[in-house]
Amino acid sequence: MHKIAIYNNKGGVGKSTIAVHLADALRRIDLKILLVDLDSQNDCSLFLGLNEEPQNTFFNLIDYRYPADLTECITEIRENLDLLTNKNYELIEKDLHRATRIDNFLDKALKDAEDVYDYVIIDCSPSRSILNSAILFYVDSIIVPTQLEIASIRGFSDIYNYLNELEISTDKIKLVVPNMFDGRTKEAQDNLEELKSIFDENILTEPINRRTKITEASKMGETIFEYDTDTQLEQFYSLVERVVKLG
Ligand SMILES: Nc1ncnc2c1ncn2[C@@H]1O[C@H](COP(=O)(O)OP(=O)(O)O)[C@@H](O)[C@H]1O
Ligand SMILES: [Mg+2]
Repeated sequence: MHKIAIYNNKGGVGKSTIAVHLADALRRIDLKILLVDLDSQNDCSLFLGLNEEPQNTFFNLIDYRYPADLTECITEIRENLDLLTNKNYELIEKDLHRATRIDNFLDKALKDAEDVYDYVIIDCSPSRSILNSAILFYVDSIIVPTQLEIASIRGFSDIYNYLNELEISTDKIKLVVPNMFDGRTKEAQDNLEELKSIFDENILTEPINRRTKITEASKMGETIFEYDTDTQLEQFYSLVERVVKLG
């Protein structure tokens, strides 16, 4: 099972969008996916059209008084795609502060996923939180979506510093995905060049264009693969290929 975090310390860069689309694309090639929403906004649920709040969430999985099984906490949201939602973000953080170790916290919480899924994909909140630290310890790969703005590009040093402080190898950052690219503007082109000068092509992926249909699809609770198959999806497929190659 390959464990992936979709992380950036900035909000609105497309973390949840990429988490959901990656999950949907991988399940379509018959891989079994667990999508774990560990942001407090539950955008994965929204973007996949889950209207009812599940009875059990990630919190129940780690609740030491009444721990629930993983199977009791997930929702089969699509064929081959299970979703683990989030609630009680503050209580989870509290539990983590109490835990003696955070580096293996998620290994324990998600141990039953190991033999069932090909990928676990975790959508993160844009912060330096103890939960995010636990996630970054747990995963094999970190995928960083970014916008093509100078502030976002400068923000990369914060992500590297964060990993260094945790003594987590920055080699875990496997892909940087420029998102919401608008090739018509010189600013976006210049910023893409800037990114190319920082990251080599093993890490930097093709940019994903800004498309209104992506926002529309999310509002309808569908992925772009479901909502509008006419949209040029090559950029997403190319990202999926890169992820599959990570192993
Ligand atoms: N490539 C894109 N084109 C158009 N809209 C996008 C694209 N990627 C994300 N969005 C939209 O931008 C907003 C923020 O994306 P989201 O995935 O929620 O970011 P984050 O999880 O980093 O906060 C959402 O409304 C989403 O639908
Ligand atoms: Mg999000």
